[in-house]
Amino acid sequence: MAILISGKEVSAKVRADVRKECEELKAKGIAPGLAVIIVGDDPASRVYVNNKKKACADVGFVSEEYALPAETTQEELLSLIDTLNKKDEIHGILCQLPLPKHLDEKAVINAISPLKDVDAFHPSNVGRIMIGDYHFLPCTPAGVMELIHYAGIDVSGKSCVVIGRSNIVGKPMAMLLLHENGTVTICHSRTKNLKEICAAADILVAAVGRPKFVTVDMVKDGAVVLDVGINRDENGKLCGDVDFDSVEPKASYITPVPGGVGPMTIAMLMKNTLMAAKLQNGLS
Ligand code: GUN
Repeated sequence: MAILISGKEVSAKVRADVRKECEELKAKGIAPGLAVIIVGDDPASRVYVNNKKKACADVGFVSEEYALPAETTQEELLSLIDTLNKKDEIHGILCQLPLPKHLDEKAVINAISPLKDVDAFHPSNVGRIMIGDYHFLPCTPAGVMELIHYAGIDVSGKSCVVIGRSNIVGKPMAMLLLHENGTVTICHSRTKNLKEICAAADILVAAVGRPKFVTVDMVKDGAVVLDVGINRDENGKLCGDVDFDSVEPKASYITPVPGGVGPMTIAMLMKNTLMAAKLQNGLS
């Protein structure tokens, strides 16, 4: 039986810390503000944006939503970002991805001021993460690390395998594990011997985006298993990238879906927004 690492519990603690620091900032006349941009009407993006706004209210931040129609031009979107970059009451800017196909995601990410880039997607922030000198960490990998720390797991010298090489999760995840002296392997769709590599991992992070992709034969006895996936199974039920029921008895620690990594992502976004407000007021 594995110990369940509860993202619900850990994210509540992170949010409580942010709430307290937010009160202290407000006493100094600084109200942290996050602008969330959503283009089009993708239902999943709408849910994520609503949750981000709710989290802002919960910790005491000001949030502004910019819901733009799907036909918005690149010029219009860049003009909004330019306005928000210059707006003093806004400390963090988040443009919900994916964007409609006609928009250039890379150019949009590049346009956000690195000081307000609470997703940590801007190349300057990505570079800072690479050299270990950063203010913002991408929310999902940072959330996974927070869970690892909370569970008291020491990464140093461990064999860590990350399945998935996205810019948002896989690559920065590998870097954060490396910073803590893990021996890191990144697996992806072209990886040969995927099963064997995963089955040798002390710490296994699944970020593939495929329901129940990680099966029991891919997990070492006593491994720590962190599941980044949010998928629907064949019955439409929420599930992760890990086949939880078969893997759980073999793991030492495991994150559930829902209630694992998911709630951490938004909690870390709140932490980044707080940091942005501090940075822009010379307090960090
Ligand atoms: N779409 C899915 N995850 C994310 C995220 O963390 N940030 C943004 N901006 N868009 C996303």
